[in-house]
Amino acid sequence: MKAVIEASGIVTRFGERTIHDGVSLQVHENEIFAILGESGAGKSVLMKEMIMLLRPNAGKIVVLGRDLSAISFQEAQHLRREWGVLFQFGALFSSLTIAENIEVQLKEYTRLSKRMRDKLVRSKIALVGLDAHVGALYPSELSGGMIKRAALARALAMEPKLLFLDEPTSGLDPVGARNFDKLIVELRQMLGITVVMITHDLDSIFNIVDRMAVLADKHVVAQGTLDEVLASTHPFVEAFFKNEYTKEKFADKLKGRGVDVQ
Ligand SMILES: Nc1ncnc2c1ncn2[C@@H]1O[C@H](COP(=O)(O)OP(=O)(O)O)[C@@H](O)[C@H]1O
Ligand SMILES: [Mg+2]
Repeated sequence: MKAVIEASGIVTRFGERTIHDGVSLQVHENEIFAILGESGAGKSVLMKEMIMLLRPNAGKIVVLGRDLSAISFQEAQHLRREWGVLFQFGALFSSLTIAENIEVQLKEYTRLSKRMRDKLVRSKIALVGLDAHVGALYPSELSGGMIKRAALARALAMEPKLLFLDEPTSGLDPVGARNFDKLIVELRQMLGITVVMITHDLDSIFNIVDRMAVLADKHVVAQGTLDEVLASTHPFVEAFFKNEYTKEKFADKLKGRGVDVQ
């Protein structure tokens, strides 16, 4: 298995507070990888470190073969084009239409003609399952689910190898969330991308995630496939996966995996 992201021994401090104290994980090529953990566990900070928005105090992160702590400015600029990001909040620029939002990076990073950019924008809008007319609308005219799709189209504008999603289904209704999951699976298949997502969504975890890392107590306390993570007896893993609600709702998924379900 080829690792496209390799974090080792990450230490992160904000003032006196230590958020990560030796966090290590590996994301493999073409998988859907989830980062789990309680609110405040440091998931978003870890993702920001992977995309060079924050720098850890110690440790090493290698993305697509490049050590983030030891790359030149030019290499960093180049690497930034290899990933698309869907942030938890701050989805789109409200003063731009959906098409203009998707076009932002194409304008900034490429020398494509206006005609070519428009063509790419239209293809991204179709790719995420939005109607062509949505391109002319403003974010305020879209539903929550459509905004997520539009933001995803923008994240995919530069045809990245890696897609980072911070709680993509939070705030969506159940139908919207499952449709978004389906879209992620299709995109991974179609585009051959690797997906890293922060999520609390058990449906996503049970249905579309290949491997995951659980952040707790400033460490990765469990990592791997669902079976590997379920083998952990860490209190967070127990509380998250082995509670009565989960055992009942996901009984079929948990059966035969060493979790006591009726
Ligand atoms: N830029 C920052 N400066 C100081 N503290 C921060 C910063 N970003 C996050 N934190 C703190 O780090 C902790 C982990 O945050 P975060 O990664 O956002 O958690 P989550 O796992 O919910 O995504 C929180 O206590 C948060 O307040
Ligand atoms: Mg977060």
